[in-house]
Amino acid sequence: MPKPKPAPGKTKPASGKTWRIAVLPGDGTGPEVVREAVKVLDAAAAKYGFATEKVHYDLGGERYLKTGEVCPESVVKELRGFDAILLGAIGHPEVKPGILEKGILLKLRFDLDQYINLRPVRLYPGVDCPIKGKGPEQIDYAVVRENTGDVYTGVGGVTQKGTANEIAMQVMVYNRFQVDRCLRYAFEYARRHGKKARGKGEANTLALCGKTNVLTYVYDLWERAFHELGQKDFPDVKREYYHVDATCMWMVKNPEWFDVLVTGNMFGDIITDLGAITQGGMGIAAGGNLNPEGVSMFEPIGGSAPKYTGKNVINPLAAICAMQMMLEHLGLDQAAGGVDAAVRKVTGEKLKSLAAGKMGYSTAEVGDLVAQFLP
Ligand code: IPM
Ligand code: MN
Repeated sequence: MPKPKPAPGKTKPASGKTWRIAVLPGDGTGPEVVREAVKVLDAAAAKYGFATEKVHYDLGGERYLKTGEVCPESVVKELRGFDAILLGAIGHPEVKPGILEKGILLKLRFDLDQYINLRPVRLYPGVDCPIKGKGPEQIDYAVVRENTGDVYTGVGGVTQKGTANEIAMQVMVYNRFQVDRCLRYAFEYARRHGKKARGKGEANTLALCGKTNVLTYVYDLWERAFHELGQKDFPDVKREYYHVDATCMWMVKNPEWFDVLVTGNMFGDIITDLGAITQGGMGIAAGGNLNPEGVSMFEPIGGSAPKYTGKNVINPLAAICAMQMMLEHLGLDQAAGGVDAAVRKVTGEKLKSLAAGKMGYSTAEVGDLVAQFLP
């Protein structure tokens, strides 16, 4: 008997696979935005024909305050067994800064070796751009932020603390292996998703963002590795270099120059907040902590926004867009395309603003709208 064809418009179920997703709502507004992301995920699963199993974990400030536990090793072990992780936000006003960030977010990025932090900077239709004269055509690039090295490794120390001679050091650390694997991912990303690949430009371009004039060890390593790998394996990808300070300037003045940017962990952290504000702010900015060979974790770039917690006013689109990146990462292309189209319709036709409390809709209503607009 011939196999029944999948109904038109449905993703063929990948041999009946059930995608196992770990859901970490976290702190503050995290649970509210993740709820909407899961709502849209479920709607997409029903619409495009795939199955998910979601397991919730209560990592975050509340658990820490109750039990003293930040992120037990047993949880990390379990997380390795999922297809992907969806994270809300980490950070609690009653917990000293650093404990949860280092103990949960950075721990997971490191332990799961999520060595890429992919952060697209895309202005959606209908979104107010703080840069005069720039629109979705101009603000359309991606930052590949290295996610395991740099000053984030915690190498350093302090001596004579509290005295006039106190010395504090926090060391920028990179090895060739980390740099090479990040650059390889970035070149491949540029080849697949650069402007030429998307029919929007003459070339797929990868720009290295560094500081070779001052960080003459670390960014010299990056620059040599960049050109060596590019020449050898990616001659079709155009190479550019910008100092990080100049990158900030051009991201505001001429964002259309950028296609794919690759940089170290610290510069990547900083420039992606700048990128986020040019795409309408933390309400929409999403990222993926990727381990292309392991389990990846998707999250809104913004924090836990304590002052908006529990008010049903926070914008869930960043979490929904993070979930969209998760779908893309899992190869559920039709669903990923559907969510992207629905978000564009919501920003283009519905929301008054992306800011918390100014959307013209509640958090839950925005989730409903995206789910309802899935094509
Ligand atoms: C981010 C955040 C984190 C970082 C903090 C919360 C540790 O700013 O994801 O960009 O610095 O990476
Ligand atoms: Mn940051």
